Amino acid sequence: MKRTECVVPAAEVEIQKDFIRKIKEINQGRLLKYSLSTFGCQMNENDSERLAGMLSDMGYMETEKNSDSDLIIFNTCCVRENAEEKVYGHLGALKKLKRENPNLIIAVCGCMMQQPEVVEYIKKTYRHVELVFGTHNLYKFPELLYNAVNSKETIIDVWESSGSIVENLPIERKDGVKAWVTIMYGCNNFCSYCIVPYVRGRERSRSVSDIVHEVMTLGQQGYKEITLLGQNVNSYGKDLSDGTSFAGLLHELDKVEGIERIRFMTSHPKDLSDDLIYAMRDCKKVCEHLHLPIQAGSTRILNEMNRKYTKEHYLDLMKKIKEIIPEIALTTDIIVGFPGETEEDFLETLDVMQTVRYDSAYTFLYSKRTGTPAAKMESQVSEETKKERFQRLLEVQNRISKANNEELLGQVVEILVDGTSKNNPEMFTGRTRTNKIVNFKGNDELVGKLIQVRINKIQTWSLEGEVI
Ligand code: 5AD
Ligand code: SF4
Repeated sequence: MKRTECVVPAAEVEIQKDFIRKIKEINQGRLLKYSLSTFGCQMNENDSERLAGMLSDMGYMETEKNSDSDLIIFNTCCVRENAEEKVYGHLGALKKLKRENPNLIIAVCGCMMQQPEVVEYIKKTYRHVELVFGTHNLYKFPELLYNAVNSKETIIDVWESSGSIVENLPIERKDGVKAWVTIMYGCNNFCSYCIVPYVRGRERSRSVSDIVHEVMTLGQQGYKEITLLGQNVNSYGKDLSDGTSFAGLLHELDKVEGIERIRFMTSHPKDLSDDLIYAMRDCKKVCEHLHLPIQAGSTRILNEMNRKYTKEHYLDLMKKIKEIIPEIALTTDIIVGFPGETEEDFLETLDVMQTVRYDSAYTFLYSKRTGTPAAKMESQVSEETKKERFQRLLEVQNRISKANNEELLGQVVEILVDGTSKNNPEMFTGRTRTNKIVNFKGNDELVGKLIQVRINKIQTWSLEGEVI
């Protein structure tokens, strides 16, 4: 693994644009295709949009089919073991394709590659992989790809930590109405179960002016909604030491023309300030939805997780938010089966769920991550117990989600229309400001518009309505 290189951001972009031009020249007259699979969180999705932007400028076209591809990329995640296993499964399956098409280039990047033992394993086991790079040097993709195309050796370039943030990389966004905007990278929290701080490095915030510029451009391009991304957006600006805060950023973005809705994720309960709650109330574009991971309900387990808050503090915070923003929808992340979690501890998690009455919860089975403190803890919980608790959690949450949705029956709500529904192409779909999915009978002209619908049917995960 390499150390951080000294990066001069503006010069780097120019160097990479040169490589983009060189590859485009080589590709002239050929129809080259790539397929890109992304695992994990929205930050990875946003990174993949950057890769797609660079590829499009190099003259590559996207295809869904691996068998059609000249280049196959996996942007990986290592937060839980099952995400890693999926990548290994895909890599194994590609051996045959590479044998049939020796010109095919297979590349892997993202969080998994920041773990030296993973890179070693890939080198040994999947010799058909020709390019490996990490999270900190994603912007160097054109240069790395150029080298991979022109070399018989596997190119491996993973940096241990990050340099300065490189702005102004090309981007090809997946959606035309809603856009992700990464506002900071990395995490300083070291929750004892989590691998993210080891693979994404320390917190680095983008400047307010760079973010405002990106969002203004999105507004001019016709985007209506932005979601600000970071592992812990509440600590946005702390590393800039010029008084910049997340609440301040929201106030700035609220003024951007064209943008109608602002969302953000993820927040950490220990850093959620009163200023932020008031900014959410006062900025009219900031939606009434807060995703605030609790992870576990027992203060003892929270302490073992190094979360730095108690159950009581979290519940007080939720109460305060509901008082200040009564319409707020609350969602969370929960891990079941953290080492040492007893039945009593688990009941505390159920208790929080029933007290807060979340609109939805992302629930995870604890997954042991090598290198994290929790991996070495004694009394790991058996898979059977984890699964049984997971099931109970799900049943309680589903009941609450449905009951919360029932309160919306007959009400008129504003939705931003996304397009046709994936599950039922006859229906259109959109989201409320509280992030609930509403399906309805509509037409293409409504896509990207804010419309009013009356809710006339409810389900656990979605609502149905009619345009009024
Ligand atoms: N096992 C299970 N879930 C985890 N998460 C992070 N690390 C682990 C782990 N080792 C979950 C947390 C986090 C979400 C993104 O993933 O709930 O909020
Ligand atoms: Fe992981 Fe905790 Fe950082 Fe979230 S706040 S990325 S759970 S270490």
